[in-house]
Amino acid sequence: MRMYDLIEKKKHGGSLTRQELHDMVQGFVAGEIPDYQMAAMLMAVYFKGMGQEEITDLTLEMAASGDMVDLSGIQGVKVDKHSTGGVGDKTTLVIGPLVASLGVKVAKMSGRGLGHTGGTVDKLESIPGFETAIPRERFFEIVNETGIAVIGQSGNMVPADKKLYALRDVTATVDSIPLIASSIMSKKIAAGSDGIVLDVKTGSGAFMKDLEDAIALAKEMVAIGTGAGRTCCALITDMDTPLGLAVGNSLEVEEAIETLKGQGPEDLTEVCLQLAAHMLFMAGKGDVNTCYEVARKALLDGRGLKTLAAMVKAQGGDPSYILEPERFEKAACSFRVLAEEEGYITRIDTAACGIASVMLGAGRSRKEDRLDYTAGMHLYKRYGDFVAKGDVIAVLYASRKELFAEASKKLLSAYTIGKEPSEKKKLVYARVTKDQVTRF
Ligand code: URA
Repeated sequence: MRMYDLIEKKKHGGSLTRQELHDMVQGFVAGEIPDYQMAAMLMAVYFKGMGQEEITDLTLEMAASGDMVDLSGIQGVKVDKHSTGGVGDKTTLVIGPLVASLGVKVAKMSGRGLGHTGGTVDKLESIPGFETAIPRERFFEIVNETGIAVIGQSGNMVPADKKLYALRDVTATVDSIPLIASSIMSKKIAAGSDGIVLDVKTGSGAFMKDLEDAIALAKEMVAIGTGAGRTCCALITDMDTPLGLAVGNSLEVEEAIETLKGQGPEDLTEVCLQLAAHMLFMAGKGDVNTCYEVARKALLDGRGLKTLAAMVKAQGGDPSYILEPERFEKAACSFRVLAEEEGYITRIDTAACGIASVMLGAGRSRKEDRLDYTAGMHLYKRYGDFVAKGDVIAVLYASRKELFAEASKKLLSAYTIGKEPSEKKKLVYARVTKDQVTRF
């Protein structure tokens, strides 16, 4: 196999065979295929797409590129959840501990920030001492003891995705259905859970801007998961505005803690409850409505927060930050972004909010960038709100004042102000199972 020939084939819309995909994935992981050739292939896939069988073959080859986890050492039903990525999406930090506190095992492998979106691993690493790279045996022990552990793609798990993910992040090849579906599902298949709930985001801050594309991505992922013998469903949730009010790593951990106390923003709380209800349902805890009620009550009695603190402690972090979140270090500088005109917020370009947050230091523009965990923003005005000229729209946080000029310009450009209020948005648009799409 010559990588050049495969790029040429895909450039003209050809389908790669299982053998070709095998050789390509193995060659890339072994370092025999350089990044520049793989980047060209990614761009060809971006423009030419892949057929259903080709995506499944790529996913299985990626899953098999490293160790596959056998979770049989963990007692009980194991349910996983994965989001396609968004801005302010801290749902894992809420749902994981909440569901675990209700008796469902969550053995989760999460990712870092990608493009304009944040990543759970980066957020967790903002908790002093927290380790996301832990040995397999310890990972199992923690899940058995506390009900949940969240690790990064440590060791030799799905190395193909680890390398591809980092390359896609810097080559503008993230928002492609075959690449997202194979990236997420290869990790989910290798991670070994019995059930998988997918949170497929749609809107201006999602990789899938359009609802029908999000449904197509969800169908693709559910088909791959079901074909691999897992119980799988997807919720299509809104990412046309940032989720919650905080964007940035430790800022989002703090907001997740508030939500686990039952005091989080309404939109974040509702999306978390819906996803948690589907995870509990998948674990056989009752019908979705019953599970929703169980999750809602659990949010109010604080048991998820205790489980989060236990997980943080078990993974080497300092649990006092979870119980007293005011201990999180604060950014050295802050800046208030003011509305330049009066009216209703009729649109937020959520990806632009994510980019503004990256500019402040909360995400990476290059693979090797170091994060500033304290950087990011708090939003004070949201979609649908009325603003007067001079009202504070958001407060930005960074380590250096110089970062505010560009980031605040970017953030302001994200807001459209109109004369009339716009329609209220749904938080959950549809549920996709192997048999049907239910629209809400
Ligand atoms: N999350 C992933 O794990 N992979 C993607 O490609 C996008 C979001």
